[in-house]
Amino acid sequence: MAVNTDMLVFFVNGKKVCLRNVEPETTLMAYLRRDLGLTGTKNGCDEGSCGACTVMVSAYNRDSGRIVHKALTSCMVPICTLHGLAVTTTEGIGSLATGLHPVQERIVKFHGTQCGFCTPGMVMSMYTLLRSNPNPTRKQVSDSLHGNICRCTGYRPIMDAFWTFSKETCCSPENGGCCQDTDLSCPQGNSAGCCRGQPAKLTDISSLSLYDPTQEPIFPPELQVEGLCENLVCFRGRRVTWYRPVTLSQALQIKSENPDAQIASGCTFLAQQLKTCVQEVIVIDISGLKELKSHEIKNGVLMLGAGLSMADLIDLSDHGDLAEVSLVQAVPKVLESWGSQLKNSATLGGHIMLRGARYDLMPLLVAGDCFALVASKDAERKIQLKEAFLRDSNPLKPCEILISVGVPCAQKFVQTFKVAKRKHQDLASLSAAFFLGISPSEKLKIDDAQITYGGNIPSLIVPVETTKFLAGRKVSEEMIGEAMLALQSELLPFEGKGLSKTQSLWAQGFLSKCLLELIAGNQQGDRVTTNEQPDIYKSCQIFEIDQEGTFSKLKAVGQPLTHSTGEEQATGEAVFIDDIPMTVGELYMYPVLSTQHHAKITGVDLSEALSMPGVHGYIDHKDVPGVNFVFAEYADEELLATDTVHHCGQIICGIVATDRDTAVSAAQCVKVTYEDLTPVILTIQEAIEAKSFLGLPWRVTRGNLEAGFAQSDEVLEGELSTKGQKHIYLETLGALSVPRERDQIEVYTGTQLCHTLQIAVAEVLGVPAHNVVVKVKRIGGGFGGKESRSLLPSMITALAARKFRRPVRCIFNRKDDTLINGGRHPSLARYKVGFTKEGKIIALQTMLYTNGGITKETSNSVIKLAVIRGESCYNIPNVLVEGRVCRTNHSSHASLRGFGCPQMLWIVENILTAVATHLSLQPHKVRELQLYKEGETTITNCFLENFKLPKCWEECKSLADFDKRSQLVKEFNSTNKQRKRGLAIQPMMFGIGIYDKFLNQAGALVHIYTDGSVLVTHGGCEMGQGLHTKIKQIASDTLGISFDKVLVSETCTNMVPNATATVASVSTELNGRAVHAACITLVERLRPFREADPQAGWEKWVSAAYFSRVSLSTTGFVSYGDFGFDFDTCKGPDCMYLTCGVGCSEVEVDCLTGEHKLVRTDIVMDVGRSINPAVDIGQIEGGFVQGYGYYMMEEVVHSPEGKLLTDSPLTYKIPLAADIPAQFNVALLKNNLNDKGIYSSKGIGEPPLLLALSVYLATHDAVKSARVERGLSEVFYLEHPSIPANVLKALN
Ligand SMILES: Cc1cc2nc3c(=O)[nH]c(=O)nc-3n(C[C@H](O)[C@H](O)[C@H](O)COP(=O)(O)OP(=O)(O)OC[C@H]3O[C@@H](n4cnc5c(N)ncnc54)[C@H](O)[C@@H]3O)c2cc1C
Ligand code: FES
Ligand code: FES
Repeated sequence: MAVNTDMLVFFVNGKKVCLRNVEPETTLMAYLRRDLGLTGTKNGCDEGSCGACTVMVSAYNRDSGRIVHKALTSCMVPICTLHGLAVTTTEGIGSLATGLHPVQERIVKFHGTQCGFCTPGMVMSMYTLLRSNPNPTRKQVSDSLHGNICRCTGYRPIMDAFWTFSKETCCSPENGGCCQDTDLSCPQGNSAGCCRGQPAKLTDISSLSLYDPTQEPIFPPELQVEGLCENLVCFRGRRVTWYRPVTLSQALQIKSENPDAQIASGCTFLAQQLKTCVQEVIVIDISGLKELKSHEIKNGVLMLGAGLSMADLIDLSDHGDLAEVSLVQAVPKVLESWGSQLKNSATLGGHIMLRGARYDLMPLLVAGDCFALVASKDAERKIQLKEAFLRDSNPLKPCEILISVGVPCAQKFVQTFKVAKRKHQDLASLSAAFFLGISPSEKLKIDDAQITYGGNIPSLIVPVETTKFLAGRKVSEEMIGEAMLALQSELLPFEGKGLSKTQSLWAQGFLSKCLLELIAGNQQGDRVTTNEQPDIYKSCQIFEIDQEGTFSKLKAVGQPLTHSTGEEQATGEAVFIDDIPMTVGELYMYPVLSTQHHAKITGVDLSEALSMPGVHGYIDHKDVPGVNFVFAEYADEELLATDTVHHCGQIICGIVATDRDTAVSAAQCVKVTYEDLTPVILTIQEAIEAKSFLGLPWRVTRGNLEAGFAQSDEVLEGELSTKGQKHIYLETLGALSVPRERDQIEVYTGTQLCHTLQIAVAEVLGVPAHNVVVKVKRIGGGFGGKESRSLLPSMITALAARKFRRPVRCIFNRKDDTLINGGRHPSLARYKVGFTKEGKIIALQTMLYTNGGITKETSNSVIKLAVIRGESCYNIPNVLVEGRVCRTNHSSHASLRGFGCPQMLWIVENILTAVATHLSLQPHKVRELQLYKEGETTITNCFLENFKLPKCWEECKSLADFDKRSQLVKEFNSTNKQRKRGLAIQPMMFGIGIYDKFLNQAGALVHIYTDGSVLVTHGGCEMGQGLHTKIKQIASDTLGISFDKVLVSETCTNMVPNATATVASVSTELNGRAVHAACITLVERLRPFREADPQAGWEKWVSAAYFSRVSLSTTGFVSYGDFGFDFDTCKGPDCMYLTCGVGCSEVEVDCLTGEHKLVRTDIVMDVGRSINPAVDIGQIEGGFVQGYGYYMMEEVVHSPEGKLLTDSPLTYKIPLAADIPAQFNVALLKNNLNDKGIYSSKGIGEPPLLLALSVYLATHDAVKSARVERGLSEVFYLEHPSIPANVLKALN
């Protein structure tokens, strides 16, 4: 069929786009960002798994006359699929200039933005829901966000913001205001109103604009006119030819002429393939074929069109004529865990054609005896899914297309199950579908059964013998036991051949659940299905806004002001590195990374890469004029490998091209040959054996260990280990280096280490530091991950910029970023603990090893802090804690929120739990017994004065109603066999102030301009933690002017030199003090003018000073605190003060699967007198959820050969909104002054992460109950992280 290249026509934000020469593999995200400059659509992963690129795509359905809106991840939308459609991005719904849309406004006013990188995607998911359904339920709102990840906020504020659009929420402008101010009843189940009684609110509901659906932009009328989409079109690119037929016969004709052609349906898989494929491809886009989107019942078989999307299939379950088709009714449960973007795009046909056991609908379709109807130009035929789709080879002939799926219209008892590391948007570890024909005449008798298992197994398993066993039997508890045994023996041959022991246990658990569900019917009682989260989430935030005392004169400090650039973030106007518009002549670089752990480089063949059109050249170690080390101080990792690589992901060279796609493709064409070297050390155990370490051991000690053990009634010894954690900040590492005159260079990047980076770039270029200017406007999430590793893109782009004398940009893709940035250190601890019969710990010896990866970097600093916190918050008289960093052939492990403490606290709390279990004591009593008190001294000589931990402990017990709920948990566990609850309360303290004394310094520069506006520059970087917001509050109150008069500039090394890194939760403390000092100087300079004319006001005083030739610009400097820890003498203190907190969590564990539900968390934090309660509560909630991920969900997995398998959000699962506690209460300690903190506040960024350990401890508690009931030992080890597989292991 001969077709010319046609014009691609679609609309973006109401403007028509007509493209004649289009590369069909271009994604919508790339087009929006690169060609239209609509950078509000963010690139967080480029593989559909983060939601940051979400946009609304609208289509006119000519048959129904309706306009349909869908949220889609634009990185998975090939541009040619948009023919005749309209796209809306966050820029299209509101802006700073035209006013924010209510969705944008609410996410800002509810403090739902931190780094802001996820924000536009969140906005567009919610906006699209509202466009389709202006009156959503709270559940619909929650469900619409399953496809969007946020690493900063902990989701609660985002959910609170968006729930206001639901009629079910009392506190919303559409529903009349806030229940605190009105007589509204509270649909969230709180008879007194959800925020009634709370002294202060984070958001003033009355300030929100009303949402009026009638004011939305209209769908382009041109796209409703017949003609545009009624003809076959073809778009020819250099590599991809894209056919868009409008009838099935056209599609089949093209397929017969191009048997190798790929079919594009939902493209959630194909889009990714097209991005990387290098051959020429023909694509037949069947997404516009009406024939494939229909359904009809013929001869007792429901034919479902292969083009129906998953969202369409869910809608079908509401069709009256399909009420009796059990399979269709089961679909919503199977797909409920999917993100809305995936449901909107993935199609039935595409899903089946992937032919994988992991895909969720496969077990259901196979157990439901479905068949595929496939067609070629000349014929149609049926293929039974069970037979053909279990094989490896494609059952379709090259000329065939899957056109529909036949579903027998049977009425059966259908149950489906799935267990995965994360409840939502995660491929199954194991899944199952059960179809049971129940006897109409005899209750609970099974006439026939079909079972299929899927998940992370080589192919679907159909346990025929078990189904035969079930057929004809009546279900009883005894029969369930027999059925499980039958299944167990049938699965035995599969074990070790793709099916693990845990998967076999899940399979049996699913069978048991299914049969128990059949018995339970709809009765209440010990229901066995735990997947569903309650629809109603509750939360409260308890804090005080200053009314008297020190704050009374302050207007901004103490107020819950919104993020200083929240509006820019929500509208997409906030500029991240890759959003900076390209300058003339700019080049793009992409690095070539080592694929080996330890090898000699025997050759680097650049010829193919350099011959590619658009490639400009390359850089390698020979281009380094200065020092070729990442950290010249350590000289242990070459920036560009010379002849040997020491870890997978090490940079060998970089390809420089005119654009990103060319640079990336060319980098992939570089052929590096290696000769393997030994040793390859990957694990801590291997490193210990090989004595492979990075530096000497670090040690903290107190008392007399030997005497302590001698005095102890009992001694326990053990070994504990934690896995790593990846940062998954949403903005990946990147930099833009711009060469200036002579050898000067400007680097735009997202780093927490401006000064270190400046020095590193200067050293690699061999120029003085004053030649290098580093600028950081904002960072799209840091969490420690933008410390040492953030140097890499800046250093290599600086080299390239110098070599080619052109600006050079490099943004790492998600997988490379995750590989290069090692993340949190895995750890291994050996301990010995001595204690009395009453549970008082007398002696503790811990030897901690961490996996540092290949270089020192921050590893020794991390382990030092871990060792310093080696007793957590417990007063143990005799202690020896040692720590040593192992050198392995992994990317360097780095800082990650908590900096060694999350590992150490996990170890200490496990030791305490072991002591409590050993003595049959309640763990919280054992904790209470050792908890530090006022007037005591820690192992690092920190004298505890004004020590708030005991108060937090008592208040948290009271807030959580701990004693009463302990009793309730016991009662629950005594009446429920398959589900057990656990409750745990856990304290934490974290030193504020960096134990390396010299780092506790900061500088600031404050200018007052003649119009009275103020520009503040300081050495800290804004990465979402609200630093600039707090700095604005401090500056405006110190100067006595309104918040809006102050602007905080980007962070730059030419304004504030030698700045300490933005780390250790101390940035507000340090930089705030420096800004305060500068502002005080200016206040003093203005004093004569103020006193001369007190009524004149700020602008007049400023003007008078200017005309009197008084300088209106000054610096501030602070050298903070007299502390520091000396490891040689064990003399401290290690910090200025301690931030304390207590967390209490309750979980419910499904004992058949090991899954858990986080029922409730209460946190009480001591943040001193909060400078900004909204920011601090945001840090607490966000830190907690990140910690929850670390302890309960996120598993870093390597292949046996050491290859990182979890290298993106697709495979590495971080918490989603659905994972947060169903009830989440956060209280800041009241009447709380800290005389060592700026404005009496305390540092907060890292400490709250540690409180998520309470979830692990609660899970431990629940597992213990189950084990006791099963007659198993109370002593057991619950591995880290507590993913379902590890919990199940502990249960058995
Ligand atoms: C971020 C993300 C998360 C995911 N999470 C999950 C999850 O939790 N659970 C789960 O089960 N799956 C998950 N998936 C996988 C998802 O189910 C599949 O990508 C999707 O079902 C494929 O459908 P599609 O219509 O997009 O297929 P496409 O990408 O359009 O096509 C897939 C393949 O099938 C071929 N094909 C498509 N239609 C036809 C046809 N009619 N006839 C012949 N060949 C055809 C194509 O040529 C292509 O080779 C996830 C995917 C992504 C990207
Ligand atoms: S960038 Fe598209 S989903 Fe992450
Ligand atoms: S605010 Fe959501 S990722 Fe940072």
